[in-house]
Amino acid sequence: MAAPLPIAPADPDPSFAELLAARPHLSMNALDGLMVEGVPLARIAAAAGTPTWVYSAGALRRRARALQAALVGDGLRAGIHYAVKANTSLAVLRVLAAEGLGADVVSEGELRAARAAGIPGSAIVFSGVGKTERELRLAIAEDIAQINIESAEEAAMLSAIAASLGRTARVALRVNPDVDARTHAKITTGRSENKFGVAIDDAPALYARIAGLPGLEPVGVATHIGSQITSGMAAYRAAYARLAELVEALWAAGLPVKHVDCGGGLGIPYRDEPAPMPEALAGAIKASLGRLNLPVMLEPGRWIAGPPGLLLASVVLQKQGADRRFLVLDAAMNDLVRPAMYEAWHGILPVGPVDFVSPVAPADVVGPVCETGDTFARGRALPSMTPGALVAFLDAGAYGAAMSSTYNMRPLAAEVLVDGTRFAVTRDRQSYEALLAGNRIPDWLEERSP
Ligand code: LLP
Repeated sequence: MAAPLPIAPADPDPSFAELLAARPHLSMNALDGLMVEGVPLARIAAAAGTPTWVYSAGALRRRARALQAALVGDGLRAGIHYAVKANTSLAVLRVLAAEGLGADVVSEGELRAARAAGIPGSAIVFSGVGKTERELRLAIAEDIAQINIESAEEAAMLSAIAASLGRTARVALRVNPDVDARTHAKITTGRSENKFGVAIDDAPALYARIAGLPGLEPVGVATHIGSQITSGMAAYRAAYARLAELVEALWAAGLPVKHVDCGGGLGIPYRDEPAPMPEALAGAIKASLGRLNLPVMLEPGRWIAGPPGLLLASVVLQKQGADRRFLVLDAAMNDLVRPAMYEAWHGILPVGPVDFVSPVAPADVVGPVCETGDTFARGRALPSMTPGALVAFLDAGAYGAAMSSTYNMRPLAAEVLVDGTRFAVTRDRQSYEALLAGNRIPDWLEERSP
């Protein structure tokens, strides 16, 4: 199985220079150290402290454009709905909205974030296996482009709500094609045992039923087979081929299908693993769905937002253990949970120009949280570093800040957007007041106090 690479793989890691070469928005300046576009990370650390998420607007734009170009290049009529779950920063959303991307949302919070960033309802798609009545009402009120229905039960619920409001909701039916995306088990979604979508064999009957329900207008079919797909296009092709057959069956039954939502999932190279380019995905869509001659939708998250982001952290101390060296950072699993949760490998670069060229030796890179799982990397080749030295975790723009928590009562980290030679704090570091806010000690506990 092509699972994400473990945090301590057996073969040698790419060198710092190799990691940099593959990430054009990053560079090493002999005086200023590691830079994001035209801004030294040391300046950002001085202004915003650490840990801090740093996003490159230029890289976000380049990736949005590259994806659009790949789809257009294959003659596809395609709308990209960026999967907001990957990175919910309003500044990031605004950059992507300006590139003409819509949003794929999975909760009221994400819908509100997309709207707050200026994405119109007409460019928003709502996915998810458990949308609440309140969320569906909001989706209808915002007149969003499409609600992706994942069950017969949800269809009935949405129909009742829409009809009671005297509105019509445009819906797509998310089908589960039962293909194996060959990715990490925790992020595979297109197998029959997964909770997502309806079985493809049940789809024609349900689609017909939806067409007859008040308040619903079926407009298409959707699928999403998993995330961080790097094992080639076979799974995509198989899933889309099944969708194409489904669309033809629906048409034959006289049912309207106006477009196909192809989901997200395109993987990125975190280490040096081969990862498919958007052209390959466009080719798979064309090969399997091209004969339908329908507009398609895409819901990419990681491919757009992952590489443009990094997590900037400071060394708290370097500790010599019984048999290994530990680099203890001020960032932890509550900030970037991917290594702990999926054994994910993230590149780690020293930021200081001297650290960058100093001799390296294996070190375990850990956070201060009281769990052994709070380990970012094992045996990583890094220089000896003193307290306060900076490091950058690469490719942390997707499922980084978005998945962070306040575990161990650690405030949510700040976020910064870099654009050329400018940068701005786009989310303040959470204050300790905000961290404690909302907590209340009931009166009746006070009464028992001595
Ligand atoms: N559409 C739907 C319906 C999804 O569930 C997802 C991701 C996407 C689109 C975007 O997928 P992407 O293009 O980003 O692969 N936290 C995990 C990834 C979870 C993905 C969940 N669904 C990680 O850090 O690897």
